[in-house]
Amino acid sequence: MNVSPILAAQATYPFVRIEQAKRNAAAAGVEIFDFGQGDPREPTDPLIRQALVDALPQTRGYPKAEGLPELRQAIAGWLERRFGVAIDPATEIVPTLGSKEAIFSFAQVVVDPAEGKDTVLVTEPGYPVPERGALFAGARVVHVPLHEENGFLPDLDAIDPDTLSRTAILWLNYPNNPTAAVAPLALYEHAARLAAEHDFLLASDEAYTELWFHEPPPSALQVADRSNVVVFNTLSKRSSMTGYRSGFVAGPGWVMDALRAYRPTVGTAPQEFVQWASVVAWNDEEHVARARDVYRRKREVLLGALDELGWRVAGSEATMYLWVEVPAGASSEECAERLLEHGIVVAPGAYLGPSGEGYVRFALVPTVEDCERAAAILRGLA
Ligand SMILES: Cc1ncc(COP(=O)(O)O)c(C=O)c1O
Repeated sequence: MNVSPILAAQATYPFVRIEQAKRNAAAAGVEIFDFGQGDPREPTDPLIRQALVDALPQTRGYPKAEGLPELRQAIAGWLERRFGVAIDPATEIVPTLGSKEAIFSFAQVVVDPAEGKDTVLVTEPGYPVPERGALFAGARVVHVPLHEENGFLPDLDAIDPDTLSRTAILWLNYPNNPTAAVAPLALYEHAARLAAEHDFLLASDEAYTELWFHEPPPSALQVADRSNVVVFNTLSKRSSMTGYRSGFVAGPGWVMDALRAYRPTVGTAPQEFVQWASVVAWNDEEHVARARDVYRRKREVLLGALDELGWRVAGSEATMYLWVEVPAGASSEECAERLLEHGIVVAPGAYLGPSGEGYVRFALVPTVEDCERAAAILRGLA
């Protein structure tokens, strides 16, 4: 008896090599500046923390999969203010335990091989969770590459008609992790048209829509016909609430009905005190603007140092990431290893998908002060 082969294949997840190199560097006395993983370390706003504490006495029993009406109302209000879309809080929104679990399990809810819908399209390089979820659901995964010459947008016209007819889900993630590229609404319009034509769902992972530095990025919910569009968003990055686990799915009523039927078995309804804190978070934009300012400062510090070093920054219009071309002659893993010798941890692009080779990803999670110290080290490499 073995563990699942999908799980066994994951044991070789390449980040363990960087983790080991990081431990070696730390043991050798090198100070570590960890730009490796995208877990924000900014404090959660006191208003949100207080709302959590205030809600504790009200909590009793299992939370319901449909979520509190007050939270669905707050999310609908935010979607209306932010994207100008009218989403019905009663039928078109389901609160989730962060967005990762919902992204992971989505293939289980809609993939239907018996009906010929056995395929999930994922972009690469990318966040690994949609692919892993699809594999655990027994789906066929097809990679859609993101190349710089196409602005790190997928070439949807290059996907063959047979694959499109077998597709149950097309995953997009903009602003994108790891390239930090932003998609125009036209990409969502194109993808939503294909989804309607070939009877699949466009699943749009919008975890980073609020971490922008120029124009606020669009949502796939803004397309003219959103009958085949499902959006996943989260408070994790917007409100530095990774530890709270609070997000939502918004989409057509029949998909939300399916989620409400599926989710009680998995037990992924967010705790009600977290839902009350989330109401406060979705209703406030000031803390989000402050968080953006902090990321903007970190970004400028790093961009200045990389520029002096002569390293080219690609994509990188939004999110907490910088996607940086590695100097000629080195692989992304070698570049990451070299930076680690100086205590700077980054993610090698190749670990995030084959099209990520040639780049490394900096997650702007250390404090502004630590970014400044890391920038000084980077300048010293020139
Ligand atoms: C692209 C992307 N989507 C979704 C998530 C999930 O975030 P959470 O589960 O905290 O909402 C992450 C987290 O890093 C991410 O990078």
